[in-house]
Parts: sequence; C-alpha cells; structure tokens
Amino acid sequence: MAANRPERIFVLTGAGISAESGLGTFRDRGGLWGRFDPMRLATPEAFADDPDTVLDFYNLRRRGVIAAEPHAGHRALAAAQARLAARGGRLFLCTQNVDDLHERAGARDVVHMHGELLRIRCLACGSAFDRRGDLHRTEPCAACGRAGALRPDVVWFGEMPKHLDRIDAALRAADLFVAIGTSGSVYPAAGYVAQARALGIRTCELNREPSDNAALFDEARYGLASDIVHELFHSRVD
Ligand code: APR
Repeated sequence: MAANRPERIFVLTGAGISAESGLGTFRDRGGLWGRFDPMRLATPEAFADDPDTVLDFYNLRRRGVIAAEPHAGHRALAAAQARLAARGGRLFLCTQNVDDLHERAGARDVVHMHGELLRIRCLACGSAFDRRGDLHRTEPCAACGRAGALRPDVVWFGEMPKHLDRIDAALRAADLFVAIGTSGSVYPAAGYVAQARALGIRTCELNREPSDNAALFDEARYGLASDIVHELFHSRVD
C-alpha cells in the first residue's frame, strides 16, 4: 500500500453535490432558505401548526428529487467507494442531503444524518416507509391505521440528527476526511472537520467556493462538484 494512499476515507456531503442535478441548495443566492422561512417549514412546531403547508413543501421537494438524476460527481464517489472496498479499505459516505442521488449513482450504505425525503414516518407507532408519491395529512398509517400521524422522515431544525454513533465511530477510524458541497454552517456536521483535525486526520474540502470552515482544511479544491470530485478521487483512490 502506498504510504500516502488513504484506506479509510470519511466523506461528508451537502446540498452542493446535488446542485448540478437541479436540486436547490439552502444558503446560496436563490437558495431554499432565502426563498422560504425554515422556521415555518422545517420544524416540528411548524408541522403541528400548519401540516398542510409543510406537507405541500415536502411533496414538491420529493417530486424534484424523483425527477433529478445523479451526475459525474455522485458517480465518481460511488466508484471510489467500490474500488476502496475491493482492496479492503472503506469510504464511509455520510450525507446531510435527503435525496437518493448517491444511492442511484451506486453508492452503498449511505448514512443520511438528516433523514430521507423518500421515506415517511408515523408519529403514532414509529413505523417508517419508503414513499415516492405525495403525502396528505389525513392519510392513515399502513401499520397502525392512525390517520393524520404521518410525516416526512427528515430531521427538522431542533431535532436530533440520525446515526450519530455510527458517524462518530467512522470519523475516529478515518485516515482522510473529505467535505463536499457543504457550507459548514449547520452542526453537528459543521464540527466534523475540527474533530478530524483533533484526531490528526488529514482534511480536504471540495466546494464551489471556500466554506465557513475553509481555514480548518489541510487542502481544498474549488470548482463544480461534477468536475472536482472525480479529480480528487481518481488521484487518491487509483
Ligand atoms: N459544486 C460544489 N459546491 C457547490 C455547488 C456545486 N455545483 N453549488 C453549490 N455549492 C456549495 C456552495 O458554495 C455552499 O457552500 O455547496 C454549499 C451548499 O451549502 P448549503 O446550501 O448551506 O447546504 P448544506 O451545507 O448542505 O446545508 C446543511 O442545512 O438547512 C440545513 O438540513 C439542511 O442539510 C442541510 C444543512
């Protein structure tokens, strides 16, 4: 094994890796939270207060995900994950995104720390289901029959992200941390680069422009994810 060839890569992705697939980011010019108020659409309180408006917003986003296609950046990441696995290494793919573009590009075991738009969950019995069609407030749960208890299985502001123990264990075991297409503005994900540095793990940022955390990265490549992801992973995971 070449000395500097990473064998356990922790990759964190954000909305920027899906931007060229036509899915909006949150904080760029024209981003989702510049057009909509997240406190009225992405909190448990907003859902309790006005479920129809929240469900309309997520039904629209879900249709957008279904219509979108993964691009070369998603595919390069999935290919690197497969090459690394074939030689006994590991690319742990943690995403803040709620779309399924990583999976559709061939990535395995994708960890969705903010949940998944193509799943719904019952507040009454806790059952969760894959979901492609629109969700309406009065729909009964297929498991417990309770009507009006189904919600998008995404993590809203004020809720705990998912899979934090798995993420923490994978970060501790990594020898390279790569952040792709994230502004580094929402915790706990925004804190992972500092955790990696404290663990002596090499860090790399791939983004269209320097993120809020840019100063914490050992190296960076700026440009479009559909270009720079392939460049980095082709050179690092040959
Ligand atoms: N290629 C690479 N990077 C890009 C591209 C692109 N084509 N387009 C945009 N970017 C970068 C932007 O420069 C920005 O730094 O992607 C980043 C997107 O940042 P945000 O919109 O803040 O998205 P993200 O970091 O994923 O947000 C984190 O905030 O609202 C919550 O739950 C939501 O998961 C989301 C979290």
